[in-house]
Amino acid sequence: MKFLKLLLVLFVIQVQAQQGGMWIPSLLKGTNEKEMKALGMKISADDIYSVNNSSLKDAVPHFDGGCTAEMISPKGLLLTNHHCGYDNIQSHSTVENDYLTNGFWAYKMEDELPNKDLTVTFIIKIEDVTTKIFEGVLNLPTESDKQKRIQQNIATVSKSFQKEAWQDVMIRAFYDGNQYLLFVTENFKDVRLVGAPPSSIGKFGSDTDNWVWPRHTGDFSLFRVYADKNNRPAEYSKDNVPYKPKHFFPVSAKGIQENDFTMVMGYPGRTQEYLPSFAVEQIVNDLNPAKIEIRDAALKVQDGFMRKDNAIKIQYASKYAGVANYWKKWIGETKGLKKSNAVAIKKDFEKKFQERVNKAGKQAEYGTILADFEKNYKDIREYAIARDYFTEVVLRNSEILSFGYRLYQLEQVYNTKGEQAFNDRKNNLISGFEGLYKDYSAQVDEKVFEQLINLYATKSPKQFLPETLNNINASALTTSVFGSSKLTSFNGLKELLNGDAKSVLEKLNQDKGYQLVKSIADSYQKNVAPKFDEINLKNIALQRTYMKGIMEFFPNDRIFPDANSTLRVTYGKVKGYKPSDAVIYEPVSYLDGVIEKYIPGDYEFDVPKKLIDLYNAKDYGRYADKNGKMPLAFIATNHTTGGNSGSPALDAKGNLIGLNFDRVWEGTMSDIYYSPEICRNIMVDARYILFVIDKFAGAKNLIEEMTIVYPKSQKAK
Ligand code: ARG
Ligand code: GLU
Repeated sequence: MKFLKLLLVLFVIQVQAQQGGMWIPSLLKGTNEKEMKALGMKISADDIYSVNNSSLKDAVPHFDGGCTAEMISPKGLLLTNHHCGYDNIQSHSTVENDYLTNGFWAYKMEDELPNKDLTVTFIIKIEDVTTKIFEGVLNLPTESDKQKRIQQNIATVSKSFQKEAWQDVMIRAFYDGNQYLLFVTENFKDVRLVGAPPSSIGKFGSDTDNWVWPRHTGDFSLFRVYADKNNRPAEYSKDNVPYKPKHFFPVSAKGIQENDFTMVMGYPGRTQEYLPSFAVEQIVNDLNPAKIEIRDAALKVQDGFMRKDNAIKIQYASKYAGVANYWKKWIGETKGLKKSNAVAIKKDFEKKFQERVNKAGKQAEYGTILADFEKNYKDIREYAIARDYFTEVVLRNSEILSFGYRLYQLEQVYNTKGEQAFNDRKNNLISGFEGLYKDYSAQVDEKVFEQLINLYATKSPKQFLPETLNNINASALTTSVFGSSKLTSFNGLKELLNGDAKSVLEKLNQDKGYQLVKSIADSYQKNVAPKFDEINLKNIALQRTYMKGIMEFFPNDRIFPDANSTLRVTYGKVKGYKPSDAVIYEPVSYLDGVIEKYIPGDYEFDVPKKLIDLYNAKDYGRYADKNGKMPLAFIATNHTTGGNSGSPALDAKGNLIGLNFDRVWEGTMSDIYYSPEICRNIMVDARYILFVIDKFAGAKNLIEEMTIVYPKSQKAK
């Protein structure tokens, strides 16, 4: 018995060790394929990525550069998240036809809605071009010479690479610049909106439930990719036809169970898994807390106004969601890094690294990396903090300062490029500003400004502050700026920008708001940016060597390249987790939870009547589980990050079982340190998506074009 238990423990450790990581799809053969099969996968690495035959990768395009999507029919039907299609859904909405509120469904292809500027990009093939990119680089004396040469090589190789006329080429750095991969892509420009549930399904729970498990959001929307007659990318045209993908995913209505194999393919944006402990310490102790405090202040002010005033709520809802998203993520990340002892674990690893370097006699190449990192992170600390204050306060959260900063750049354009460039930029700015001021409330911004300028003046490193912020009285400064600056309205702004360069700059420099921005930006450009860039460049070079050393001295570790918005595969198991003492989370949520959370009329937790009716009648079509319940979402140990929104979650055979859209709050530190104990991705169950399309929307036309894999119990209907 004891022996059995030990075996079981070993087995569990083994399986846990096989999780985490975002792998390159063309390099899965060997270790990854073995691990995936051990976890239950029934297909091969060649089925996932192949240049010669159609493979799963052919069904997974990058959606609009930021999200992921997948093909789910032979007629180019595309599935992604509701929050990924949000802007397009919004752009077709009017007061009479509000598709965000009511949903949208095209019951015929003629009803599908074209989207200007929306593109999806498929990967045709991936090739290693490292040797070519490093040509003539290694002997160059300085890091900036090296970077320049690398950029030149990238341009040359991209240009000369053989491809079809309708294809594109891009080259990306992996392993902090130790490897370069080239991607041949096809970029489709005619992508039409097909379906979206109402926000009360697609955004159910909104910001309160964001990053949270248990979750009940039907976060999906549908589009269709159109091609020319030869099935190639083309600009929008009435004559285009539905794209025939080389592969599309059958949709599984069979459902999932705890411990089932899952894999997610997609375009994760950015991770930093190999940072030294000194960098992680800085994130935990200095940078995240500063950013959180700033956003906390801004969000509190905005929320106060939004709850009182419906017009302000409409103006600020989308901005608020954007700011709140990472605010909440950073809080979870900071807690998770502390709780998992990420810094201590990194320090342990660094000790081992140093030992192996010494043992191998490689001190000349790697001996001082860690000491250099320690010094650099000490040296950069104040600059990094100042940079985050500048970014968060001036560029991101105080609107008047961010408007002013655009004008500051305009003045710089004049100084460096002259009158013509100034006029071009000015005209561009005016049309951009029109949209920004439409959603601007000076009343809200004034209160935000008062809070944030006070934080800037009292909490950011004193030595870099401009005189205008020395010992200020925040409330007096606010009154003086908002009492006179023309930046508080679109008309005021137009007045400022009216005239030739000389008179515009004269007016600007007399405006109290502009004067303040200029003083802050000047001192940032002079006292912070150059030094930050200088030390940061050193860290980039160190990180590249450190990464090389990690690969050399830990050849048996599971080392994957940090996310860089290229196609990756991650795999794991459906699994619950333990968020805190005495609490256990199950891996599957049900429609019952929607009804439990229902608050009539609430902007986050309202539920459409039709959904309540279907729930009361248990009218779930062929999509209920074997107990007659309607599954809604589930979690698994897949290692995902921002950009994986809309990614397909696949079962052991490569059928679609879910749609990735989030992570659990306690595990958001996985961008820096992945722990299989607590890091989980969140997916909408494919059965809920089918149910909403079929039973809620009655879009049988869409159900019919998919290939649906039913469980035995649902076959006969
Ligand atoms: N947290 C998810 C992501 O990082 C969803 C964000 C959209 N939803 C929201 N409530 N803001 O993108
Ligand atoms: N919602 C995120 C996105 O838009 C995915 C969640 C995450 O960061 O894992 O990409």
